Amino acid sequence: MPHRIAILDGDGIGPEVVGEALKVLDRLEELEGFTTERTAYDLGGRRYRRTGEVLADETMDELRTFDAILLGAVGTPQVPPGVIERGLLLKLRFGFDQFVNQRPVKLYPGVTSPIAGLTPDRCDIVVIRENTEGVYAGAGGLLYAGTAAEVATQESVNTRHGVERVLRYGFELARTRARRLTMVHKTNVLTYAGDLWMRTFDELGDGEYPDVERDYAHIDAACLYFVTQPERFDVVVTDNLFGDIITDVGAGIQGGMGLAASANIDPTRSAPSMFEPVHGSAPDIVGTGKADPVATVMSLGQLLAFLGEGPAAARVESAIASLLDRRQGRTPDGVEYSTADVGDELVDLVAQG
Ligand code: IPM
Ligand code: MN
Repeated sequence: MPHRIAILDGDGIGPEVVGEALKVLDRLEELEGFTTERTAYDLGGRRYRRTGEVLADETMDELRTFDAILLGAVGTPQVPPGVIERGLLLKLRFGFDQFVNQRPVKLYPGVTSPIAGLTPDRCDIVVIRENTEGVYAGAGGLLYAGTAAEVATQESVNTRHGVERVLRYGFELARTRARRLTMVHKTNVLTYAGDLWMRTFDELGDGEYPDVERDYAHIDAACLYFVTQPERFDVVVTDNLFGDIITDVGAGIQGGMGLAASANIDPTRSAPSMFEPVHGSAPDIVGTGKADPVATVMSLGQLLAFLGEGPAAARVESAIASLLDRRQGRTPDGVEYSTADVGDELVDLVAQG
């Protein structure tokens, strides 16, 4: 049975980086003998400007039937903030209950980190970002909008169910790695949410995961430690907004947005999981050949691992590692080394894995 994959290449550089990832996928299918059935969906800012539609419920229903979604990037500067982010990206994450956002922060050999002297052995973290609650839930509102008395509230939603399931995922993942789980929050100020998170963390840790070493850091300190001592972390689990912020710090230390992958996962597999690079649509470099498809190919690797194609995922991992080692910090300049060149190189390298 082929894996059914919905392709949402989206806006800006999305189609360029997804195009390279699909070249790699074609090659992997030849090498490993699995097949995919891909269906392209035209969604995003461009589509919205043309049709006024962001994501219809019928499209959601159709997408729900797929095994996975590969997403490039969505959003264009011509559409007001929030329309595409909430109406498309968050609607998919929330609607399919992809409550885990898994973002590796790994420094590969050959990549120059902006942190002087940082070596790969000191930087191998997986951030688990809660992906359906927190301030992203969208609770709050504007009162007396546009008057001198206007009030804006933006509330953070934290349920026992939501907190427990993401912490549990973090504990389980830590068991497959160095057995060290750091919870990141701001319990000293966000005392209600912090209390729920901390109690749940301790209860699960004492009751079910005594073999996993627990640590805690406030989000501000964690940002500092990511930069000064990333070796302190193995698996990090955190709230939605803190996870959003700290994974951009992570992208920085691991060599840039072009190398940051992410998986929006529903571990229960009742709906498709969605794999996307952390970077956005980068309208400033569209069509220049400067977009780096590595993050998208890494996300494709996460997708394949999730669909049970372990050997193909392993090929992606080793191809990326050799590419990064070989190119020694060089990124596409659009002239001598383009987006498509990186894709071609990866197509060759997966065959060597
Ligand atoms: C990310 C992005 C999104 C987020 C935006 C585009 C809604 O920044 O995936 O990290 O905040 O989650
Ligand atoms: Mn972000």
